[in-house]
Amino acid sequence: MSPSVSEARGRIAGERKFLTVLCSDLQRSTDLISELDPEEAISRLEPALIAMRTAVRRSRGIVSKEGGDGLIALFGAPHADDNHAVLACHAALELVRRIKLLNDPELHVRVGVHSGYVVAHVIEADFSSIYEAGGPAVHLVKRFESTANAGQILASESCQSLATGIVTFKALPPKRLEGFPALVPCYEVVEISGLSRWRARSTSGLSSFVGRNEQISQLERAAQLVGPSGKIAAVVGTAGIGKSRVVHEFVDALRQRDWQVIEAEGNPLEQAVPYALLKKLLQSALQPEKPVVADQAGSGEALASADAELWPAALNSVLDQPVADPRWRDLEPLLRRRVIIDAVRNMLDRVISSRPTVLLLEDLHWIDGQSETVVEALMSLAATRPLLVLLTWRTEHTPEWLEHLDVLRIWLRSLDAASANMLLDNLLGTAPDLDALKARILRHTGQIPLFIEEVARQFISRRVAGETGDADASWDTLEIPPTVQGVIASRIDRLPKEDKALLQLASVLGPRVSPNLLAAVTDMPTAQLQSRLWSLEVFSRRCGRSHLSNTCLPTTLFARLPTSLFSARSARCCTAGY
Ligand SMILES: Nc1ncnc2c1ncn2[C@@H]1O[C@H](COP(=O)(O)OP(=O)(O)OP(=O)(O)O)[C@@H](O)[C@H]1O
Ligand SMILES: [Mg+2]
Repeated sequence: MSPSVSEARGRIAGERKFLTVLCSDLQRSTDLISELDPEEAISRLEPALIAMRTAVRRSRGIVSKEGGDGLIALFGAPHADDNHAVLACHAALELVRRIKLLNDPELHVRVGVHSGYVVAHVIEADFSSIYEAGGPAVHLVKRFESTANAGQILASESCQSLATGIVTFKALPPKRLEGFPALVPCYEVVEISGLSRWRARSTSGLSSFVGRNEQISQLERAAQLVGPSGKIAAVVGTAGIGKSRVVHEFVDALRQRDWQVIEAEGNPLEQAVPYALLKKLLQSALQPEKPVVADQAGSGEALASADAELWPAALNSVLDQPVADPRWRDLEPLLRRRVIIDAVRNMLDRVISSRPTVLLLEDLHWIDGQSETVVEALMSLAATRPLLVLLTWRTEHTPEWLEHLDVLRIWLRSLDAASANMLLDNLLGTAPDLDALKARILRHTGQIPLFIEEVARQFISRRVAGETGDADASWDTLEIPPTVQGVIASRIDRLPKEDKALLQLASVLGPRVSPNLLAAVTDMPTAQLQSRLWSLEVFSRRCGRSHLSNTCLPTTLFARLPTSLFSARSARCCTAGY
């Protein structure tokens, strides 16, 4: 059992969660075992069940329920993860692959994946406890599974919309599913596309770049400092705040000025894959236009290394190429790592000596452990080479090894009002009848660019579909897009229990809640409460009054509260005299 599961056990009273459910089942398994003894029947199906469990756990899912011939698994629980749909599709593909590898012509698996709301809670049975998810979403995913063909993975529209780009889907004709009156849109999961999150986002179309002048100037100044020696800079912020957009805008400008760009990124699907990020770094550095001469002498320091003969083998092993050198196979893991570090350093050293280079390493919060060790060792290149190292990571995952390095940290907050307005104008146009709607979108998205884009896109698609009438009324038909739900939910889940409870309470009291009211309900001194809320980055002060700055947040929280809590909270507010 993973630590997160055991830690979460016992304290989950029942929580409404937006996550992805996977349901898998062996087709006609009863026919396979009906003639067998119970022991034989179990061992006949056990390899398939092991394959299913392994696939789920490798993609950070948890098995909620297991039958003799299939299982239900949850992704994004007990702790939220905004990648839950991608992880579930990855697990489904891996599950089908593993069953095929069993080479048993009678074993055919069908899989369904669906993202939706469930109420998740721990059920204590006589001999075990189960982390169970309930609600229509679970029924729907079972229907998807049961209508899939052998070896097929069927996904719902919500799952497809969350994972598309990173996962490739094929649209199928809508299906009539038992218990669901309307035709249900349906997609087949085909493969993992191999695109990074940023590439997936950018291929679906980017809005015009707005604001961020200060941050771009800071990066410009860092680039100007690159001469005989280099500089390390990092753009840090919460999910969807615009880290990738800022660094890519800046790096594209450097490219125009003949800078060389080497790039790689962490990937949530590859955190457990050794050297996954380093492989991408090497592929980028070794592209044909980059002038590496294979037998050219490296630095004196590098040539002094006794392991230099093993460098080609080291690079090939990271690149998943065949390694012929028998000495490589015999090397101890720790020595291998040291040789890999030397080999990569030496290779990079040669690539970057020709002209100013930016080494862009994105999403360090998803870097695999082995690459992290090498990347840490590579940072010293910036001290003596014309190299700008540009890093991004999400606020909550600062890499520890960066603490002792001289890094220019650029923190991204929400867009300023003028830029956020401009972004909305670009997305929705400037018709005056949209002004009130735009003001509401800005208030409710906390001026976070991803949230603005997603809400605006939802409005546009509903308008195209003729579902919204006048702009003012259309606000009521908008929901928090699933992408935004996922991001907020995972931020909340990482908070300490007390902070979560505080936010939940604030959400019930509404977006304009005053600290005095909260203080009265929580019995916490107002000053202490205010500083807690500031540190949670969810409160702002306007016109001398404090209120929640991102009202998507309370709505999400509200959705997460089990209904049983509402009455208790209301009673408390009443006793507090409000
Ligand atoms: N300044 C901006 N102008 C216009 N669009 C922006 C701006 N900043 C971000 N966006 C858009 O918002 C979306 C999210 O931005 P981005 O992918 O850069 O976020 P991120 O911080 O890298 O998120 P994650 O942590 O998930 O990688 C993208 O579609 C991006 O184009
Ligand atoms: Mg990004």
